[in-house]
Amino acid sequence: MIRIENLVKSYTLQDKEFKALNHVSFEVKKGEIFGVIGLSGAGKSTLVRCINRLETPEEGKILINGQDILSMNEKDLSKERKKMAMIFQSFNLFNQKTVYKNIAYPLEIEGMPKEDIHKRVLELLKFVDLESKKLEYPKNLSGGQKQRVAIARALASKPQTLLSDEATSALDPANTKIILDLMRKAVDEFGLTIIMITHQMEVAKAICDRIAVMEHGQIVEQNEVEELFKNPKHPVTKSFVRGTAEKMDVSKIIESTSGGRLVTLNFDNNTAKESIVSKVIKEVDVDINILLGKITKLQNSSAGFLTVEISGKDEDIEKAITMFMKNNVTVEEMP
Ligand SMILES: Nc1ncnc2c1ncn2[C@@H]1O[C@H](COP(=O)(O)OP(=O)(O)O)[C@@H](O)[C@H]1O
Ligand SMILES: [Mg+2]
Repeated sequence: MIRIENLVKSYTLQDKEFKALNHVSFEVKKGEIFGVIGLSGAGKSTLVRCINRLETPEEGKILINGQDILSMNEKDLSKERKKMAMIFQSFNLFNQKTVYKNIAYPLEIEGMPKEDIHKRVLELLKFVDLESKKLEYPKNLSGGQKQRVAIARALASKPQTLLSDEATSALDPANTKIILDLMRKAVDEFGLTIIMITHQMEVAKAICDRIAVMEHGQIVEQNEVEELFKNPKHPVTKSFVRGTAEKMDVSKIIESTSGGRLVTLNFDNNTAKESIVSKVIKEVDVDINILLGKITKLQNSSAGFLTVEISGKDEDIEKAITMFMKNNVTVEEMP
């Protein structure tokens, strides 16, 4: 288990100090895929660099199975760091080495006997389905294949934790899916724990058990994926959950309305299936004009929202809103 407590890391930018991490706390269970999502500059990479001690935070604790790696001696720290592997957006392979040699490298460093290295590399090549590429050089591989080599190399020393910093951000959707499936397989087969940094909600949603949302060096919200989608609370979370919605100019929506009440209806798994909107129109004397919406499929269910304009008499609009709320729809007033 990994427990991050009140992590603070400051940088100086144009003579001004700012906190790239501002009292960050969270906990990741063994075998969990924990997502950290945020826009560029939120502090995500700083967070992973602190966790693997490429950087030293000024305050806070990083507890791995109860032991704070910030107060460890060099020898113990080095042992702990071996249990953590990392993959990046830019793959960071050795271009002068073959696929085989790239994967063998950490094992050579460890001093593993040659025959054992050979056996392990073949296992890993099989795991990432790249046996046929073992003698190729990275320049002859696609992005997705390069990331598979990076994953094989990361797993070579049997780490307990994988830190993934935007590992799929440079890949197309098909290769992204292959990499995510591979990560899930590593969790299922080896009991790996993954901290998954991304700015893509699609990616976090597809694979994570829980997600923390970061903004300006702080975690503004964290929850299980289903819950986060059903009931996003912080504006940044809402914009991630809604995906396309954030790109729409709210003024354009308002232009297309005719003076009714603007609200966003947030549906969860159960309510989205029943056509609660038509039920309300039938029972209450209001018009409902759908302006914007998105229903997202999650791993086991779906959730979504509709931004609508409700027109009618004030008391009927109130009745309609009450009826939505009684049917477990969260109603949010738009500005
Ligand atoms: N080594 C550094 N020196 C100064 N500022 C940095 C350094 N690394 C990151 N930053 C700043 O810290 C903030 C967070 O950066 P980063 O952790 O890379 O964010 P993210 O990965 O979420 O995009 C940014 O404003 C970035 O410019
Ligand atoms: Mg980053």
